Amino acid sequence: MTTPDARQPELRPDNLPDANHPEHEVTFHTRRWVRPEDLNANGTLFGGSLLRWIDEEAAIYAMIQLGNTRAVTKFISEINFVSSARQGDMIEVGIRATEFGRTSITMRAEVRNMVTQQRILTIDKIVFVGLDEHGKPVPHGFDGITYDRDRFPVRSADEEF
Ligand SMILES: CC(C)(COP(=O)(O)OP(=O)(O)OC[C@H]1O[C@@H](n2cnc3c(N)ncnc32)[C@H](O)[C@@H]1OP(=O)(O)O)[C@@H](O)C(=O)NCCC(=O)NCCS
Repeated sequence: MTTPDARQPELRPDNLPDANHPEHEVTFHTRRWVRPEDLNANGTLFGGSLLRWIDEEAAIYAMIQLGNTRAVTKFISEINFVSSARQGDMIEVGIRATEFGRTSITMRAEVRNMVTQQRILTIDKIVFVGLDEHGKPVPHGFDGITYDRDRFPVRSADEEF
């Protein structure tokens, strides 16, 4: 068994945001289990699978923050895969809003391997834009993070399509 890198932050079980959560820290919402279909030819986690998980996580986060399910990926900054994962490992995807624009939200992402306790990657900038029903950017009117579901649009279960 390998010894966790002392430079890496210790994995905490909490992951619940609180008022004292430092600005730069992401909140780890989602865990994934690395399955055979997620591997590359080297037998380690395929980058494309990981990027799909991150984009999906960022999309859900953006929708909750902007209160708009029509939120689309606009920009993703450079990605440096610093370590990986093997079949059977569990990874955590963390996201945090760093900036609220007029129609956009900018987020930071971090992924870590729960088994090796190594960071797999960080992405400094993921930008999503909220759109209206015509596919045009729409102002969201928010300037800070919500830790609730208060912005999320709801509909009744029997509403017609
Ligand atoms: C999202 C889209 C409607 C935005 O159109 P646009 O003409 O760039 O719109 P705007 O210039 O008004 O910019 C909208 C917001 O995006 C931001 N933005 C635009 N280009 C950006 C870039 N390269 N990097 C970061 N943010 C950017 C703007 O700053 C603006 O944010 P703000 O209102 O908070 O200030 C359009 O680019 C689009 O449809 N892209 C495809 C999106 C998509 O399908 N994504 C899924 C992956 S294929």
